[in-house]
Amino acid sequence: MKQASALAILAYAAMASAQAPAYGQCGGQGWTGPTTCVSGWTCQYSNDWYSQCVQGSGSGGTTARTSTTRTSTTSTRTTTTSRTTTRATTTTAAGGGGGGGGTGLTTVVPASAGSTTLPSAKVVSGVFDGGMMKYDRNPKVCQGQSETGESDAMFILESGATIRNVLIGPNQAEGIHCRGTCTIENVWWLDVCEDALTLKQASGTSYITGGGALHADDKIVQFNGRGTVSIKNFYANDYGKVVRSCGNCSGNGGPRNVVMDNVVAKDGGVLCGINTNYGDTCKISNSCQDDGKYCDRYTGNSNGSEPPKIGSGPDGTYCTTSNVRTSC
Ligand SMILES: *[C@@H]1O[C@H](CO)[C@@H](O)[C@H](O)[C@H]1NC(C)=O
Ligand SMILES: *[C@@H]1O[C@H](CO)[C@@H](O)[C@H](O)[C@H]1NC(C)=O
Repeated sequence: MKQASALAILAYAAMASAQAPAYGQCGGQGWTGPTTCVSGWTCQYSNDWYSQCVQGSGSGGTTARTSTTRTSTTSTRTTTTSRTTTRATTTTAAGGGGGGGGTGLTTVVPASAGSTTLPSAKVVSGVFDGGMMKYDRNPKVCQGQSETGESDAMFILESGATIRNVLIGPNQAEGIHCRGTCTIENVWWLDVCEDALTLKQASGTSYITGGGALHADDKIVQFNGRGTVSIKNFYANDYGKVVRSCGNCSGNGGPRNVVMDNVVAKDGGVLCGINTNYGDTCKISNSCQDDGKYCDRYTGNSNGSEPPKIGSGPDGTYCTTSNVRTSC
């Protein structure tokens, strides 16, 4: 297998006409551009969907080869299924992000396995395992709290997609956008810009398990769809709100249900902001917010005006808590 692949890359490299620039993409599923880099740069495998030109000769021979092979023809790609599996396992082990503690609660940001920048949001369907690589946008698109949109995200998840073991840097604006239900495991936002995650699912449940978000001027999760988000073993530090059901989206409504378990949130605002007039709920268990800020309740609208806050704290109906604490 190894030799066959090495031959494949040699053949393919010989055919390739252009070379990818410094920091440019040079491979990944669906990539049809150059698969070798300009002189002095090496094509390094990041994950099944992305390889990038990095400086120097690196150790990247193997990694460049795998992604090159995959992009060459459809039939090659079909036969790589077993290799993909092997490689994903290897990446996880090397990055230290999978297995054991990846989806458990930790308040320590995991070390990155390297960094990658992309010029646009990366669309994910199926499962994407970042192997603890740090992803960011270049050119940078973060403009603080100015309104940005899906195209300013780092990742766009198609319905049913899973993303795991990723660090998201400060130069993107909207973190992750989920077009439908999604699963987010051990993802760390190092410096949230506009928000970290936007949920647009029409119904069903999205899952955030493990990981954390730091330095969010306002919201971490913006819940614009309907249905449920389950947040477990998650860490938030220095933030505005952990989750906000959209207060004044056009076509606004609900219910939106937030379920939090084993969340640790420090130096920030409420865990949930919900609109009780739409039947939104927030159920918090086994969690800590160091100021005891669990919920704010609002009356939402769909005409864009500021939604009035009607109360704070558990009310036994829309916001419920069990085993919550203020010592984090
Ligand atoms: C927006 O909708 C809310 C709730 O339906 C209503 O109370 C408010 O007056 C409306 N504001 C405007 C500017 O239409
Ligand atoms: C809509 O609500 C958001 C908060 O959810 C607020 O930041 C924004 O100012 C509101 N829009 C208007 C026009 O009041």
